[in-house]
Amino acid sequence: MTDAVAGAPAPLATIATLGRHEGERVTLHAWLYNARASGKLLFPIFRDGTGTIQGIVPKAAVSEAVFESVKKLTQESSAIVTGKVRADARAPGGYELDVEDVEVIQRVPEETPFPISLKEHGTDFLMEHRHLWIRTPRQSAILRIRAEIVKAARDYLDDNGFTLTDPPILTPAACEGTSTLFPVEYFGEEAYLTQSGQLYIESTALALGKVYSFGPTFRAEKSKTRRHLTEFWMVEPEMAFAGLEELMVLAEEFIGFIVGRVLERRLVDLKVIERDIAKLQSVKPPFPRISYDEAAAMLDEAYTKGLIENKFEYGDDFGSPDETYLSSQYDRPVMVHRYPANVKAFYMEPDPENAKFALCVDVLAPEGYGEIIGGSQRISSYDLLKRRIEEHKLPLEAFGWYLDLRRYGSVPHAGFGMGIERAVAWICGLDHVRETIPFARTLNRMYP
Ligand code: 4AD
Ligand code: MG
Repeated sequence: MTDAVAGAPAPLATIATLGRHEGERVTLHAWLYNARASGKLLFPIFRDGTGTIQGIVPKAAVSEAVFESVKKLTQESSAIVTGKVRADARAPGGYELDVEDVEVIQRVPEETPFPISLKEHGTDFLMEHRHLWIRTPRQSAILRIRAEIVKAARDYLDDNGFTLTDPPILTPAACEGTSTLFPVEYFGEEAYLTQSGQLYIESTALALGKVYSFGPTFRAEKSKTRRHLTEFWMVEPEMAFAGLEELMVLAEEFIGFIVGRVLERRLVDLKVIERDIAKLQSVKPPFPRISYDEAAAMLDEAYTKGLIENKFEYGDDFGSPDETYLSSQYDRPVMVHRYPANVKAFYMEPDPENAKFALCVDVLAPEGYGEIIGGSQRISSYDLLKRRIEEHKLPLEAFGWYLDLRRYGSVPHAGFGMGIERAVAWICGLDHVRETIPFARTLNRMYP
């Protein structure tokens, strides 16, 4: 577009990259986030999806028509804005815009204002308007950080010799227990939405060495906790010729890389959401490692001292409150290894030193966030795996191909899954996973 004041067209820019245009005229494709007026000065705040910026519109500097249309602009009206970029140390993003022209694309009518005003709203209301809520600065910042986490996870694996292999989403059998399967009618047969790509990437790992999958996974979780979604995204690396030790090294390197990347590239967004940066800066490998037995002893002691309410029963899996306590004892993620085999999945390799325990690891994020990664070495013996499938009353005929992996060149192999939403909740310091994904699916929400 052209500008009436200066004549020359101004290049299209984004708010996040205005630093490259200091002192220059630029055009922004924007929406009005908020506005304030003081006599002959208007202060519209625009957003464009990359950030927000305050504009300044002095009555004397623009045409009467532009001044009047900016003055009447309503929240979330869309516009093409032209102005000059000026550095301002007090501005949150470091810049302000001396507005010269505003071309309104759609003005939101006063009678039907944008439902999310700048006052506080209840969570239910916000979730009901999630399609609009994501436009607000905090929610947009979280989604940008999520994208950075996803990219960092992929970059780390791509650059360290892992090949992306996509597993199916429609599957004939359970991977992580039969109680959370979502059935789907598949041409007269029952199929399920995948709970994890693991079984399939075990087969691609034996084909390609080091592989990963990244995709949506589903669990019919009947629990209403702040950590559970029914649809979530998981990144799962799997390595042939590797055991629990190599897996723990991978987990700490992987998480350290992701957190470092977010600190490096999304500092502005971390500030928007008021994240305590120091808490993320300490997340560097090596991470502390404790066995299940040591963790159980810590919980026992905490209960004796009255630090936690629930007594932990040795032999059980840790519940959310147990994980919260354990993970709040460290300034970086803690890796809890060797859980009792009978509380874990059927495919885990027993510890050769004591077969009651599995060669597995859960990574618990600090600040009370709890499990973000679950993984293990996999059973490599055909006979043992077949026995486990039977003990777990899983349909043997659906696992024939999986057992084949133990018949033809079976090797020790190991992998883990990291839930993206759990990682985002922790890295962003959020109370609940529902804000970590554009449209959360939970026990009681399918809309929008
Ligand atoms: O510990 P889980 O169940 O492990 C597996 O699915 C393995 N098959 C992964 C593997 O070894 N390749 O799930 C892995 C991670 C958890 O640590 C958690 O971060 C996330 O997936 N997760 C969930 N996130 C949100 N909502 C849920 N209902 C989740 N269930 C698991
Ligand atoms: Mg788990």
